Amino acid sequence: MTQINTPRCPFETVPSEETGQIKETSNLTVKLLEKRYIEKNKKVLRGVHPKSHGCVKAILEINADIDKGLQLGLFREPSKKHDAIVRFSNASSLVRPDIDDNGDHGSRGMAIKVFDVDGDMLLHDNSQSNQDFLMINQPVFAFANTPDYLRLNRILYNENDDPSLFFAPLKLQDPRTPEQQKEQILQYIKQEKLSEQDIKRIFDTFTIVQQIKAEAVANPLQVQYFSAAPFLFGDDKIMKFSAKPRNLQGTDNLPENPSDNYLQDALDSTLKGDESIVFDFMVQVRSPDESDLGIENSSSLWSETDFPFVNVATLTISAPQAETQSEQNKKHCENLAFTPWHSLKAHQPIGSINRLRKSVYQASAEFRTKEPLSCPRSFLSRLFHWIFGY
Ligand code: HEM
Repeated sequence: MTQINTPRCPFETVPSEETGQIKETSNLTVKLLEKRYIEKNKKVLRGVHPKSHGCVKAILEINADIDKGLQLGLFREPSKKHDAIVRFSNASSLVRPDIDDNGDHGSRGMAIKVFDVDGDMLLHDNSQSNQDFLMINQPVFAFANTPDYLRLNRILYNENDDPSLFFAPLKLQDPRTPEQQKEQILQYIKQEKLSEQDIKRIFDTFTIVQQIKAEAVANPLQVQYFSAAPFLFGDDKIMKFSAKPRNLQGTDNLPENPSDNYLQDALDSTLKGDESIVFDFMVQVRSPDESDLGIENSSSLWSETDFPFVNVATLTISAPQAETQSEQNKKHCENLAFTPWHSLKAHQPIGSINRLRKSVYQASAEFRTKEPLSCPRSFLSRLFHWIFGY
């Protein structure tokens, strides 16, 4: 695995047990991919966000009138243009209908790869200097930190991708929970050494998940996306970033009977038109000495009222783009690897969840892009299939 240059950031608090937790989560990421795909003799997809609505070409242009104080890193040179590629996705770790059988929605993703940036990089992208920006359609991430995400991954691995057990401690307050089940939950809390603080965070996660399930998106090109986690903004500031379409249309055009892949259909039909889609790329910049930054908790919100987003660039997706669903484009899209660590040093990802993402994204991308026959289990299952027909 490529070693990433990780300068120490003075604004972070890194617990001593974190290295082991990150290692275990990375191993579980690969073991989950083996279960989901290799054991079923299927092509390996991304660890999360496996379902793509399409990859599109775009141009990122730094605003000509960008505030002087924001001219650093990628945003150093006003009016500078970069080619970019954008992948729209569903976050769910399995490829499922865009709206599930219960009518629940899911978290949606937007990943921007900005090509050929100037400056010192943390990690090169196949030897290129590309800046990736990964976002979801909520301003907060459902899991606060590495221990919580590790606990989720252990549960997904042991419970066949069912996350319910993660929320079990919340059932203790529910009068309908049978006594025997309460006993089992108490056992689980003891075994996992869950503190009151941990259970409070589980409640926060549950609340965010309910919001995600309720949030209808009509078109991946007409929704605002957020980094949720914080990043450096030069040496002495930190930022969160967001991309917001200029003609945000909300959910007005949600189809009456949405198909399983209605988000891809919406993206395709918009890009068959001749009107370019323009996103404002914006940052919330704060000083590290402020209180309530929540650097180590990705579920903490930076209020837009108190800390408004400021426009720094525009992302233009030109239309028509007819080739988004061509086999060649889909293959290219599948082989791309996005990570917040494909980044200029000036925008280093910070906080617990971002430190965890460093090796997990690499583990997922390396595993899914390696030659199929280099994996012994895949080879054996193919051999069995060839000899015995199953
Ligand atoms: C602020 C929190 C996060 C955001 C905004 C975010 C966003 C995204 C997006 C948009 C993608 C799709 C990239 C693409 O189109 O290829 C992605 C992929 C991925 N994310 Fe996250 N994510 C977050 C946290 C996490 C965490 C905590 C983990 C696990 C430790 C994780 C693991 C992954 C993995 C494994 C992939 C696929 C990597 C690959 O195979 O190329 N993400 N994420």
